[in-house]
Amino acid sequence: MRTVITEGRAKVEEFLSPKISKELPVFYNPAMALNRDISVLLLRALGKKRMRVADILAGSGVRGIRLLRELGKGAIESMAINDGSKDAARLIKKNLILNGLGGNKKITVMNKDANLVLLESSGFDYIDIDPFGSPVPFLDAACRRISGGGILAVTATDTAPLCGTYPKTCRRRYWAAPKKCGMMHELGLRILIRRVQLIGAQYEKSLVPVFCYAREHYFRAFFACGRGNAAVDEVMERHGMLDGVGPLWLGPLWEPALAKKMDALARKEVKAGKEMIRLLDLIREEADVPAAGFHDIHELGRGRGRNIPSREQLISAIRKAGYRASGTHFKGEGIRTTMPQEKLLALMQ
Ligand SMILES: C[S@@+](CC[C@H](N)C(=O)[O-])C[C@H]1O[C@@H](n2cnc3c(N)ncnc32)[C@H](O)[C@@H]1O
Repeated sequence: MRTVITEGRAKVEEFLSPKISKELPVFYNPAMALNRDISVLLLRALGKKRMRVADILAGSGVRGIRLLRELGKGAIESMAINDGSKDAARLIKKNLILNGLGGNKKITVMNKDANLVLLESSGFDYIDIDPFGSPVPFLDAACRRISGGGILAVTATDTAPLCGTYPKTCRRRYWAAPKKCGMMHELGLRILIRRVQLIGAQYEKSLVPVFCYAREHYFRAFFACGRGNAAVDEVMERHGMLDGVGPLWLGPLWEPALAKKMDALARKEVKAGKEMIRLLDLIREEADVPAAGFHDIHELGRGRGRNIPSREQLISAIRKAGYRASGTHFKGEGIRTTMPQEKLLALMQ
């Protein structure tokens, strides 16, 4: 059924169906609105000006249209909105008109293979990769065309391989061994990040994560692109194993100042919903704890019967002992901390 809906400040015609699948004439998933909200919020928080933006797998164009409508004046110099489907490209044009953006000279609607759009361009300052499944087929062209100082945004919905349900697929696609365990979402996200960084490295581009998260059936990572061998070497030095899983990115998943700014913006300026605020609050806290991986208090407390302190009690005790600690958005029972595990176990006694 085709219906006009409002998402953020965009009014878009979409094909709505109780069953969200690739088979929709033009793909639109209302459950991914939060993914788009966060993209808008991140770019607002960064406050970059005169960006050349590419929404290369645009579907109905809702993401690009929201960026055009919701970022401040002067933020976007040009916008390429592309989808390989003819129906999608037609709908993008219609949706631009619906938003008073028809005939806007800075917008180009394209109906090409996404890699061609990137390779035929002179480069972009923001590239959004939002595929069905794995982003791998688009990484090479995106890494070539992302500018120094630009932001590369990557979604992956193939969480089953990345989280260890299909380890062989993960090895082929992401060149790493995953693990199905309590920490699988963080581990899978870190495997994805390293894969993106390795492609960047071959073009002498350092891709440093500034904001990442896992939610429901997808991972999302935003990278700041730097240039030069020294910056790339620094990134590669932070690749390694975590609990026998990987290789993966061991560095930070967030830039703490950005996480703070996004949280503040969501509360004050954007009328963000509870779900988004909860996610941003948790991430703001965990961004301040420089530790890869987290502890599951139930696993740590196994064999101790009912004598397990609550997450809040433990976080407060860790902080009192002079270490950093927070919950984690990856898992309700998780604690991210700089306290070594032996000390944590002793503290739990
Ligand atoms: C997950 S949907 C995009 C959803 C959209 N970004 C949004 O936020 O609503 C993926 C889109 O990529 C398009 N697509 C898939 N492979 C493509 C390719 N190689 N080149 C261009 N478009 C492609 C599909 O037609 C589909 O619309």
